[in-house]
Amino acid sequence: MLDTPKQEDTPAIETIFNPNSMSYAMNPGPQCIALAKRGRLVWYAPWMCWIMTRMPDIMDCWKREYLSSDFYDWEFAPPRPDEATWTNFEKALVGHSLLADPTHHRLVRKITSPAFSRNVVDNINRRIEPDIARLFADLGDPEEFDYISEIARHIPFISITRMVGIPEKYWEQIKASVLTFTETWNPTISEERRAKAQEDSNRAIDVLIEVIAERRAAPVEDGDFLSALLKVEAENDDFDEWDIITLILALIGAGADTTLIAQQWSAYALLKNPDQVAPALASPAAFSNAFSEIMRWSANSKMGFARYAPEDMELLGQQVKKGQMVLLMPHLKDHDPAHFPHPDTLDVGRQIDPDVLFGYGPRYCIGAALAKHQLYLSMRELFKRFPNARLAVEPERDLEDHNAICFKSLRVKTGL
Ligand code: HEM
Repeated sequence: MLDTPKQEDTPAIETIFNPNSMSYAMNPGPQCIALAKRGRLVWYAPWMCWIMTRMPDIMDCWKREYLSSDFYDWEFAPPRPDEATWTNFEKALVGHSLLADPTHHRLVRKITSPAFSRNVVDNINRRIEPDIARLFADLGDPEEFDYISEIARHIPFISITRMVGIPEKYWEQIKASVLTFTETWNPTISEERRAKAQEDSNRAIDVLIEVIAERRAAPVEDGDFLSALLKVEAENDDFDEWDIITLILALIGAGADTTLIAQQWSAYALLKNPDQVAPALASPAAFSNAFSEIMRWSANSKMGFARYAPEDMELLGQQVKKGQMVLLMPHLKDHDPAHFPHPDTLDVGRQIDPDVLFGYGPRYCIGAALAKHQLYLSMRELFKRFPNARLAVEPERDLEDHNAICFKSLRVKTGL
């Protein structure tokens, strides 16, 4: 196994950077800065992978896509399933994956761009608003409640089903898959749990096939995502029903956990910094900026973004072997005073440039506008319903999540 040359007086990497430790969960900044000081591309033995630490290198990698995004190119991935035996899940994820072939990926992104137009996103936002208001109304008038179990946990499902346009009668059937979808390829869980998650996804695909057939029979003019994608399909020979299914699964995979984390940190950051509530919620545009600052301040990422070497290569002065994982970690700079003056202060007016919270280049986040708007609506509702809301206790960090720092619960005193 390759390793970076280790000098005698250099402490072992896991002693300076351990994202699974409680000290990281409580204050990730110093560990992130220490890791970035180690070099541009650092071998991280505990995870058997490389970590890319500097922004210009990360942005160049995002932009030129010289590394693979395909999980099956990873040296420790299970064997790529044989096409003859693919289940629906494998057909959607291995065969047509948005994550796999860069040429097809670029084509899909290009021809589906009308599905992310302002008009479609505005329609989706309008549909989500009453759902979020209902969640808060269902709370009643409690003295105290848990923001995560009562509100945050429900939002990913609501936004994705409303975004895609899945009728409510199907919601129960696909709920499980939204909650377990990212487990379908999670190498850190048991084979049994992964198989169960894949079963949920297969069932969700059956439902999607039914929803699509129904929508073909009774088209909806005032577009949601599915209507827009069916139009794209009708106009493009290179885009078929499986591309639609793949894209919807990608929304579930990329949109559920990220939303849950963003919800927790947005509520926590504003509850901790009451003077920032009014400027953050002054308008959707003000919140858009505030959200980038909230995520910088929280520095909640543990793993960053995974890529895989497509061949043996020399990269940033290191010899990288085919199949090795390279993690891009743009968050390492987030508490570095060389990048951000007074990094521990939450200042929602701070301009972050470049702002790569939603990625950069060909794989820029599809759900960015939706994510920011549903967060704005949720935070606005929280502080409208409970203008005197405050943290009941400092929330306990949950070390279980392998991707992000999150909380076991987030108790809010309403002030009622
Ligand atoms: C606050 C929440 C979110 C954050 C911070 C976020 C961030 C990101 C980032 C950084 C990427 C690029 C990943 C990479 O380069 O490997 C990405 C990709 C993606 N995101 Fe998001 N995201 C969020 C919410 C959502 C939502 C709600 C959806 C869908 C409803 C979504 C759908 C996607 C998809 C489909 C991709 C893959 C795009 C592609 O490969 O072309 N995201 N997101």
